[in-house]
Amino acid sequence: MNLKNEFIEFFKSKGHVQIPSAPLIPENDPSVLFNTAGMQPLIPYLMGKKHPEGTRLCDYQKCVRLTDLDSIGDKTHHTFFEMLGNWSLGDYFKKESIGYSFEFLTKVLKIPVERLAVTVFAGNEDIPRDEVAANVWRSLGISDNRIAYLGVEDNFWIAGDSGPCGGDTEIFYFRSEDPIPDKFDPSDERWVEIWNNVFMEFNKDKDGKITELPQKNVDTGMGLERVVAVLEGVTDNYETSIWKDIIAKIEEISGKPYQGNEISMRIIADHIRTAVFISADYAGIKPSNTDQGYILRRLIRRAIRHAKKLEIDTNSNFMEQIALEIIKKYEDYYEEIKTNKNVVLEVLKNEGLKFNRTLEKGLKEFSKLLKNLDSKIIDKDNAFKLYDTYGFPIELTEEMAKENGLSVDIEGFKEKFKAHQELSRTASAGKFKGGLASSGEIETKYHTATHLLNAALKKIVSKDVHQKGSNITSERMRFDFSCDHKLTDEEKRSVEALVNEWIMEDLPVTMETMSKKDAVASGAEAMFIEKYADIVNVYSIGDVSKEICGGPHVQHTGELGKFKIIKEEASSAGVRRIKAILE
Ligand code: SER
Repeated sequence: MNLKNEFIEFFKSKGHVQIPSAPLIPENDPSVLFNTAGMQPLIPYLMGKKHPEGTRLCDYQKCVRLTDLDSIGDKTHHTFFEMLGNWSLGDYFKKESIGYSFEFLTKVLKIPVERLAVTVFAGNEDIPRDEVAANVWRSLGISDNRIAYLGVEDNFWIAGDSGPCGGDTEIFYFRSEDPIPDKFDPSDERWVEIWNNVFMEFNKDKDGKITELPQKNVDTGMGLERVVAVLEGVTDNYETSIWKDIIAKIEEISGKPYQGNEISMRIIADHIRTAVFISADYAGIKPSNTDQGYILRRLIRRAIRHAKKLEIDTNSNFMEQIALEIIKKYEDYYEEIKTNKNVVLEVLKNEGLKFNRTLEKGLKEFSKLLKNLDSKIIDKDNAFKLYDTYGFPIELTEEMAKENGLSVDIEGFKEKFKAHQELSRTASAGKFKGGLASSGEIETKYHTATHLLNAALKKIVSKDVHQKGSNITSERMRFDFSCDHKLTDEEKRSVEALVNEWIMEDLPVTMETMSKKDAVASGAEAMFIEKYADIVNVYSIGDVSKEICGGPHVQHTGELGKFKIIKEEASSAGVRRIKAILE
């Protein structure tokens, strides 16, 4: 049985429209690195905005949760997972929602009712105990013994600290060969949660105030990996049909069986799958030392270290081989996996090359360190050396230390890390000043900010935004661009936030000289292509912008300060104008 297809078909038969999975890297929301739940992209609609597809929706959604990345390696947790969900946006509520879940589990998946139990919200001082939900369960044949009432910590759902929220009812499955106990005890680990139906009727604002939403919604989420394990009768998710071929590939490459090497194999499988999905996302994330890029780097490097433990030749293309197995599994479900297959393989190859250059030496350095250590702590200088010279993410050093009964002076490491960053920033600013005698420092900054603004508008407003003009003084920048509408406040805010995020990331600005033809082929943006000579300079800012340009530019975006839009107005027909400053 194909659970994804069965789920979607079932909910379509109940009048739901299937919506595509939102990107893993949230669009226009720099406050979170990854989508962590199916409901996240739907927040505006849960708050009352009209959804173009109607009031009944369903999907399978890509999610990444990293609360405890370094404990991944067990049988049931994954850094990436798929969540099946159905939503009512002010349409049906508790009775239908519970009814649909029950019907899907017992009729379509044919799970025996005796194996099911539920928790229901016990209420608190503001919200009464959810007898409505409990009664629906009773009417479907769930006995009182199998209904547990739990409080806010367990049965109230909110993504983070604020936003749409509400009490929920969670469905559990008895996953054990043992006789099924009559009375359901949610703390008994043989009962595993398989589905969560949230009745989203409130909004919690930033100050913690709870108000009713204009409409009553349902938001459900079912973890695909877990339910497949239930249906296939295994307690180790990696023994399901989802992972079988991937684990077999790792067995083949390493020449070792899964039994006995489970942890490293699970880590490799899990991390490469997540790396495939992060790098395939249209956001174009590449391994780096900040944000999503850093997570991607950590996942890949941790997988490589575990491959080494399995004595896999890490200079081989083992990651690409495993990735191909993963791509095969998902490309029919996620278009970007198919489209960006080569991007993914390239990311894995390049990051592998980079890490392999220093890995061996770093591991030797680590063993040497162990021998000479006279305390149980790896000090900040050694931790920093492993990071800076050998490319070991600090978390990797920590994990290796733990395996040897040691700890790391993390606070000391952070101090050193910060001091080092400031030093290199000043150094690059100084060098740059020397080379650019004729152009004012502030104008140069505005020039680089113009490229960032151009890229941010493309990302947030429309990919059809193009530069129509630019004018820079030492007081401000002015940027004209093609756009068919007045920017909304939300768009302005998001553009500003994105430019500032890129500034914070301290992205490197690099220049390459090439033929105009190659520049265009490489995707570099140009205002009037015919205006340029045959050989042009192409300026890139990290991965976010690439433009044909005469320069000059700063060397790192961190030099720009804070970017602020002060005005947005019409310039001429179909052309808008932004005035902005750097503070
Ligand atoms: N938002 C809820 C969850 O993530 C249900 O989808 O569990």
